[in-house]
Amino acid sequence: MNTKPDDIHRLLKKAVKSQIDIGTKEIIINRNSAKLQINKCDGQTDVLNVASEAELFNQINTSTLGEPEFDSLEAHYDKICNCQKCPLGKTRNKFVYGVGNPHADLVFIGEGPGRDEDLKGEPFVGRAGKLLDKILEAIKFTRDDIYILNMVKCRPPENRDPLPEEMEACSPYLIEQLRLIKPKLICLLGRVAAQRLLDTKTPLGKLRGTFHNFMGAEVLVTYHPAALLRFQAYKRDTWEDMQKLKARYDEVTR
Ligand code: SF4
Ligand code: URA
Repeated sequence: MNTKPDDIHRLLKKAVKSQIDIGTKEIIINRNSAKLQINKCDGQTDVLNVASEAELFNQINTSTLGEPEFDSLEAHYDKICNCQKCPLGKTRNKFVYGVGNPHADLVFIGEGPGRDEDLKGEPFVGRAGKLLDKILEAIKFTRDDIYILNMVKCRPPENRDPLPEEMEACSPYLIEQLRLIKPKLICLLGRVAAQRLLDTKTPLGKLRGTFHNFMGAEVLVTYHPAALLRFQAYKRDTWEDMQKLKARYDEVTR
């Protein structure tokens, strides 16, 4: 596949951004050989060939997630639970890390804690959470089969969307959680998580329906349960998304 300079630029930006997210120390771009050398925080080096889109994606997908820094989710939690890296730290009641099976093949990612989650310290326990439980039940999952987390660990005031800089500050935590859990599938709930993780401005409706890739995991996007509570019309599409997710889950975990 031939890649136009603009595409290479876009792909490089994306590759570099995801490397920064996961704590890469140094990135060397050699224009003459069209190679991108990535010196990772664990001392290892990856070299990406940026001459071909297919190869670039292939290499990013198999190389970026890397090994976790911590031994367990508990050890990671202990280290970060008093975080004050962004202003949301000051206004939270409880830090909302995530719940579920630490070895889940499927991870759901929401936006950020709401009022109930902030009080309890657990994601998706309010009205939207109850609906998420029903959705899970419909595809024969319980909270113990999967893992649930959010883009930001602390509640944005008045339930506003988390700001890009807040998600930026919090994203190394999410990446480390994904490194520890190593899911095969990720379901992104709603526009905020979808556009941020897939690094796109494409509307949610257009991101639905096909699998995307995030650091080696297959990603399906669907409506946020809070949106479903407001707009009944999304129910049918969400049901279709969940059927697709379940079918793929059965395939990849067989
Ligand atoms: Fe830290 Fe994330 Fe909470 Fe901000 S939202 S204070 S980065 S844990
Ligand atoms: N909405 C989210 O995105 N996450 C929660 O944990 C609760 C509501």
